[in-house]
Parts: sequence; structure tokens; C-alpha cells
Amino acid sequence: MDNQVMPREQLGVCAEGNLHSVYLMFNANEAAESQLRPCVANVAQYVYELADQYADSAFNGFLAIGANYWDSLYPSARPNQLKPFPTMSADNRDAPALEYDLFVHIRCDRFDILHLVANEVSQMFEGLVELVDEERGFRFMDNRDLTGFVDGTENPKGRSRQEVALVGDEDVSFKAGSYIHVQKFAHNLSKWNRLPHKKQEDIIGRTKQDNIEYASEDKPLTSHIKRVNLKDADGKSMEILRQSMPYGSVKEQGLMFISNCRNSNNFEKMLESMVHGDGQGNHDHLLHFTQALTGSSFFAPSLDFMETEAS
Ligand code: HEM
Repeated sequence: MDNQVMPREQLGVCAEGNLHSVYLMFNANEAAESQLRPCVANVAQYVYELADQYADSAFNGFLAIGANYWDSLYPSARPNQLKPFPTMSADNRDAPALEYDLFVHIRCDRFDILHLVANEVSQMFEGLVELVDEERGFRFMDNRDLTGFVDGTENPKGRSRQEVALVGDEDVSFKAGSYIHVQKFAHNLSKWNRLPHKKQEDIIGRTKQDNIEYASEDKPLTSHIKRVNLKDADGKSMEILRQSMPYGSVKEQGLMFISNCRNSNNFEKMLESMVHGDGQGNHDHLLHFTQALTGSSFFAPSLDFMETEAS
């Protein structure tokens, strides 16, 4: 393929994991669109260039536009699967929506750099947006979620990260962009930690210490990995690229769950399988120990799309 005509993806969409992250959620001020379009392109380009400047600390990031704000910012064209967060609820398992206009996601192995960049990005947006939520994520132990289980093991690796996360020729105007879903989960760790290890392992479907996947016949239908390991009508695995990290403080902590994908359907089907289950009464028992506080849907366009729309 001719690299000259390939739109440039935002580097944080497919980047490997880091030690630290900062998540900034903004809402746009009234009638700011004409000034925001060039500003959004500048911020994304700035983040892209910092990846070179801070390559030693593996800096990366992306900027994404909220599903409900997209048409205001870019009225001329819309990614064909972009829609609001798919809220769902069954018994006391809730996946509520909390949408934002803009999401800036930056990650690095040095926290001071992130702090500096987060301030600079906020300054670049000054007068155009309101910062409505901010979280800081961190690597916990050897890539574990705060439940103590290694998270990310079955993520796509190498080039298949791009294959899974980036839109291709199926929507040419949005090639190299990505559908982003974010849920801030707050864990009930005191409840979780009272469970014996074996029960915790049955809920995840992997062993805790050594992170070994259960044999297929041993995986409970209510285990997390059973519920999210889905196949499409042709028997092909439905995949997403997870960029989640633990966040929070002693008061409130959990997982910033982030799904990046070339379509919006895979995430929605997985969430449905967790919350509503398999139609035989088997939902994801991990949801008894964690609660989604937010649910937001975004699209992270290519740098070239934002640049073209800026003028
Ligand atoms: C796998 C934790 C929410 C999709 C896993 C694994 C853990 C985990 C420990 C096993 C290791 C791995 O392969 O990464 C959590 C926690 C969550 C959460 C603590 C929330 C509190 C979600 C949500 C989705 C999801 C909301 C999608 C809607 C997946 C997928 C896998 C996975 C696709 C890989 C399954 C496989 O192929 O084996 N998760 N997860 N997770 N999770 Fe989650």
C-alpha cells in the first residue's frame, strides 16, 4: 500500500501500555465550533509530535470527539457507526451513559511529563471548553487490575492491534480512526477481597497468581472471559483493543475501561453479554463487585481528517 495516501492514525490508539495516564473529559462552550476545529487539530498534532520528543518515556495519546458532539463540530461527515453509548440495565447491573464532548487521553512512563502536557493541553483549549472530569491512571503491580488479576493478556498483539482498532476501507473518509468506548468502573474491593481466591478465579476464568486461562470446559458460563469471548455469525472472533488502566484513590478506585475498535458493534455485544447474559440466565458475575459510573462513546479521527477540517 502507498504510505503517502494512508491517513496518519493518532499514536495513542494502538500504543503499548504505559506506567501512567491522564484522562481529561471536556464539554465545549456554546458556539465554539469554528475556533475549536483548528484547536482540536493543533492539540492532536502537538500530542503526536511529543511522542517523538519524549520517546524515551514512551509518551503517546489521542484526542476523541463525543458521539453527541460530533455533528456540531464536523457537520459535513460522520463515521458511519458512531452512536451514543449503549446504555443497558438488568437487575442491579447498570451500564449508564455519561457523555462528554471531547476526550484527551495521554499516557507516559513519566508522570511529570503527563502533568506538564495536561496543563498545556488545557491552556490550548482555554475559553473554548470546560474541563468536567479528570482521572489519573497507573500501572498496578505487573499489569494487574485492582482485583489482583492481570488485565490485558488476551489483547491483540503487534500489527493486529491496528487491524482490530483502526477503521479501514469500509469507511474511507474515516480510515485510521477508531471507535472509543469508556466506562469508569468503581470496584467494591472490600466485598471482592472477602471472596476466597478460587471463587475470584471462577469469576474471571483465569488463575490469579500465574494468570493461566481455565480450560474451556472448566470456565463457568458466568465468568468474565466466557461472557466477553464472542464470535460473529461466520465464527470469527469479535475483538477489541483494550487500553484500560486502574485509577483512583483509597476513597474511590477501579478501572478506567477503554475499548478501541474499528467498529462500535464488538464492544456493544460484549457489554450486552456481560449485563444481560446469554439468554439462559448467565450474566457476568464480575459485575457483582464493580459498578460502572460512566459510559461514553467517542470517535478518534485520523490526524489528517482533523487537519483537513480545521480550515
Ligand atoms: C479480559 C478485567 C470490563 C472485555 C479480561 C481479563 C481481566 C479483565 C482480568 C483477563 C485477562 C485479559 O485477557 O486481559 C476486567 C475488569 C473490568 C472489565 C476488572 C471492569 C471492571 C470489561 C468490559 C469489556 C471487557 C466492559 C467489554 C465490554 C474483555 C475482553 C477480554 C477481557 C474482550 C479478553 C477475553 C479473552 O479473549 O480471553 N478482563 N474487564 N472487559 N475483558 Fe475485561
